[in-house]
Amino acid sequence: LVVVLDFGGQYSNVIARRVRECGVYCEVKPYTISLEALLTMEPKGIILSGGANSVYGESAPSFSPALFEKGIPVLGICYGAQLMAYLTGGRVNGAPKSEFGRAELRITAPDSPLFSGIPELFTCWMSHNDYISSPPPGFAVTAVTSTCPSAAMEDASRKLYAVQFHPEVDHTEHGSQILDNFLKRVCLCSGDWKMADYVDQTVASLREKIGSKRVLCALSGGVDSTVAAVMVHRAVGSQLTCMFIDHGLLRKGEGDAVEEVCKTQFHMNFVRINAQEYFLDRLRGVTDPEKKRKIIGDCFIRVFESEGKKLGRFDYLVQGTIYPDIIESGGTGAAVIKSHHNVGGLPDVIDFEEIIEPLRRLFKDEVRRAGLELGIPSDLVWRQPFPGPGLAVRVIGEITEEKLSLLREADAIFREEVKAAGLERSLSQYFAVLTNMKSVGVMGDGRTYDYTIALRAVTTSDFMTADFARIPYEVLAKASSRIANEVGNINRVVYDITPKPPATIEWE
Ligand code: XMP
Repeated sequence: LVVVLDFGGQYSNVIARRVRECGVYCEVKPYTISLEALLTMEPKGIILSGGANSVYGESAPSFSPALFEKGIPVLGICYGAQLMAYLTGGRVNGAPKSEFGRAELRITAPDSPLFSGIPELFTCWMSHNDYISSPPPGFAVTAVTSTCPSAAMEDASRKLYAVQFHPEVDHTEHGSQILDNFLKRVCLCSGDWKMADYVDQTVASLREKIGSKRVLCALSGGVDSTVAAVMVHRAVGSQLTCMFIDHGLLRKGEGDAVEEVCKTQFHMNFVRINAQEYFLDRLRGVTDPEKKRKIIGDCFIRVFESEGKKLGRFDYLVQGTIYPDIIESGGTGAAVIKSHHNVGGLPDVIDFEEIIEPLRRLFKDEVRRAGLELGIPSDLVWRQPFPGPGLAVRVIGEITEEKLSLLREADAIFREEVKAAGLERSLSQYFAVLTNMKSVGVMGDGRTYDYTIALRAVTTSDFMTADFARIPYEVLAKASSRIANEVGNINRVVYDITPKPPATIEWE
């Protein structure tokens, strides 16, 4: 086990994910955990995350300096590096020149185990105002940039390592190798941990926690909530009841597919609530995306509450929240970009003992791997992520039954063509959007004035940034012609070529 101590940095869970990718089990703990509690976890290594403060500032997050005397390998990253320096007698102050973005790093100690197998010069990602102006006694500088004299430092005798740059982000070349070196060469981890172990550990701890109590899962029908439900089902079987609220905003055929798997394959207690009319009614005339999300969240709560009561009393509620949901809903202190209704909606309403979020620490691709481990069919696991508010945020402007049905058909065609071209796995998310724009076209001999469909396909590993996918023109051409010919009321198809940022993946 390796522990990431979170000092409020935006990348703490990205570090954890990278560690897991190296085959090492990893947990994130807040910096407020006591040293004793940390030691009882018997970590083989500890990583101090980045953070937004100055280590010398008043009320800056800190930790017991005794940590550095325990013989446990510690890697400090960015703020974590500065904190290590500060607490072990070095000097940290404002850098004459802040570094944000790419920087050229030069390794000055090629023998350092951290840099084993890595070229002397490479590009790293920097993001700091402060720097280590003078390393603590016992430390040697192991890398520099043109403006950062201690871009990396170490005290091998105490197994203390620090890097000012961010090895966990993609922009740092050899970043994964640096983390791997720390884990395998310094912490001496074997690297044989697998997703199967995560599933087993989570199932065991769920079983212990839930005991003989009753659990309710609010299933939205997407991959995340399905994986969460199956995981809890493996832990407590029939103590779990799944309530699938069909809001009528799902893709073509999707609700039935989920029902089939839950009922027939896993034999879950599965209750489907058909609430399509109620949702559409409440959404009538609403155009603002955030309002749509709020209304859908609210409708969920109401249906959930009234239908839930009929099912008796439950002690726990399961939700399929995954890590990016938490970040983007501002759960880590980051800015609220979109209010994802699956974070923080339901809990206040019904008196549950606790919310269970077994996927809270996982990124999307990890959720998929967990789903496969649990035996969920790969077709279902490999569906692309679908936002909780579903097609409501893909019909731009007012939602009507007619628009929903146009979008459902166009989206199904696009998905069929992507599948036929064998591109499914290489795309992270792909879908159609019904824009609220009509334009002039010509069909047969007549002028048309119809809707524009936008096709969107992105590649991303974490959904926090994304690039538009370079889909072959032939695939786009086929999808475009089929949509225009088969759907009706659509006379124009466009492909979205914007990355995130500046756009988001969804249009609303
Ligand atoms: P954006 O559009 O923010 O999307 O770049 C990032 C990922 O989140 C999904 N998404 C949502 N998921 N409720 C959800 O459960 C939402 O309101 C929501 N909005 C976006 C989106 O599909 C993508 O995978």
